[in-house]
Amino acid sequence: MEKILNIISNEVQAAMKANGYDEKYGKVTLSNRPDLCEYQCNGAMAAAKEHKCAPFQISDKIAEALKGNTLFESVESVKPGFLNLKLNPDYLAGYLRQMEEDGERLGCSKCKDPKTIMIDYGGPNVAKPLHVGHLRSAIIGESVKRIGKFIGHNMIGDVHLGDWGLQMGLIITELKARKPELVYFDESYQGEYPKEAPFTISELEEIYPAASAKSKEDEAYKEAAMQATYELQHGRKGYQALLGHILHVSVSDLKRNYENLNVSFELWKGESDAQPYIPAMVEKMKKDGFAYISDGALVVDVKEETDTKEIPPCMILKSDGASLYNTTDLATIVWRMEDYKPDEIIYVVDKRQELYFTQVFRCARKTGLVKPETKLTFLGFGTMNGKDGKPFKTREGGVMRLEYLVSGINEEMFKKISDNHTVEEGEGRETAKIVALSAIKYGDLSNQASKDYIFDIDRFTSFEGNTGPYILYTIVRIKSILKNYFGQKSLPQDARILPAHSGSEKALMLEISKFNGMMESAFEEAAPHKVCAYIYDLANAFNHFYHETKIMAEPNEMVQAGYIKLLELTKKALETCIGVLGFEAPERM
Ligand code: ARG
Repeated sequence: MEKILNIISNEVQAAMKANGYDEKYGKVTLSNRPDLCEYQCNGAMAAAKEHKCAPFQISDKIAEALKGNTLFESVESVKPGFLNLKLNPDYLAGYLRQMEEDGERLGCSKCKDPKTIMIDYGGPNVAKPLHVGHLRSAIIGESVKRIGKFIGHNMIGDVHLGDWGLQMGLIITELKARKPELVYFDESYQGEYPKEAPFTISELEEIYPAASAKSKEDEAYKEAAMQATYELQHGRKGYQALLGHILHVSVSDLKRNYENLNVSFELWKGESDAQPYIPAMVEKMKKDGFAYISDGALVVDVKEETDTKEIPPCMILKSDGASLYNTTDLATIVWRMEDYKPDEIIYVVDKRQELYFTQVFRCARKTGLVKPETKLTFLGFGTMNGKDGKPFKTREGGVMRLEYLVSGINEEMFKKISDNHTVEEGEGRETAKIVALSAIKYGDLSNQASKDYIFDIDRFTSFEGNTGPYILYTIVRIKSILKNYFGQKSLPQDARILPAHSGSEKALMLEISKFNGMMESAFEEAAPHKVCAYIYDLANAFNHFYHETKIMAEPNEMVQAGYIKLLELTKKALETCIGVLGFEAPERM
């Protein structure tokens, strides 16, 4: 469906043209004075300069020309030369009925030219627990992916596990110190390795920090870990079997954690999957003359003439021949291009890695790992801070485990819900989980991703204000009215959304009608916060309408049925939006 703003613009542009002015002056925007009008056109101000006359002479003419146009309830020319527009309620009702008929798309057409877009998000590290730093990547990435899917693109999410490097050697070294008798350490062992991992997830999570701490104090221990890493990376069998166990145990735990966040990935690839692509990639970079030795290391220059700050070369191999985080990311691009031929790769990563990704992207482009038209996008996010404005920590000052953060909020929510009314424990817990997730996700997504934000549990879990629970509360309210209505009767045959009977009803209808335009720009700008802003305005408009309208007591059957239809559409818009944000609404709360 055409966006309502375009439909209106087309009319005003036609009127401009018919009166001898350039079409471009007919562009219409949402009103910034909702008390005066719904839409406005300021084009006469600019047109007047070109035509050397007073702006209101033009706006008067256009207002006159649009008189009788069925799209508008009123077109007013206001000095010095503004056009104030109000939509015809009949037209608006018709537009909403079309949205309704459009089913789950709600008037947002699928894109004509679907792209394959890979999205690299999550980025957890194997054997280390997820912490709040991973939360934003997961939440934002999942939402951007869902928005893209809704628009009609082929979105492929890849978790890009951190499963390569010293952390693996550390775990192996510590395991060897604790259980030297395990067959994995016996180099002469020829048989099959056990299927069962020699550790549980909780042991694994305890082993890594212990090993990491030791390596900082004990040089020999660190050497051993580095040696183990080297041997692992060069094919030592027992160590590779251990890596398999570490991955398996870790990934099942990660999947459980992500499931609790309503986050899922199409691909569970890791840094280790990129390693086989490194030798050929490096060879080619050398052969093509892009990579050269500088201070012993192999590098590719990536600075450009227009740079205003220094962009250091991209290091491909260290002087000892070891690969780096860079090398892995570049080789990952290689397999992504080979296997999926994406039109775009989006990276949802902490914005402190921006310079790093500038280097990687430039290097990939320069050395021809991607096609010239392949888009590489860095979607950097800001830090999640505590109320003190510093990066979010536990009360003791440590790094907060994601699991504890989530269960803490679940608990808080459960208390709130049980305080409000009596619920059965089981249902209460289930509802609390759903509402808590909305609190966390909405609290994050309602901010522009690149900005830092304050993780304020009290505010996020509040049922009032710009919060997830407020949105859910609104949906639940609609559900309960619908249940009440349909418990008593069914819709009359020719029930339909009618032209608004009141200002608050029209305001609600206007909000709903913005759906398609909002969703398109949320995708184009990779901006879930636009979806949040839309549903917040929509929920407010609905609640205002609800407080001013006696829906269940409405005596006119057709008017009442029209309200019900409008409620259904409101609910559908809200639910579709929270769906792309990555949470859902309970039946009651
Ligand atoms: N594992 C990394 C971390 O915890 C994030 C990975 C980001 N993605 C990437 N392709 N480098 O910081």
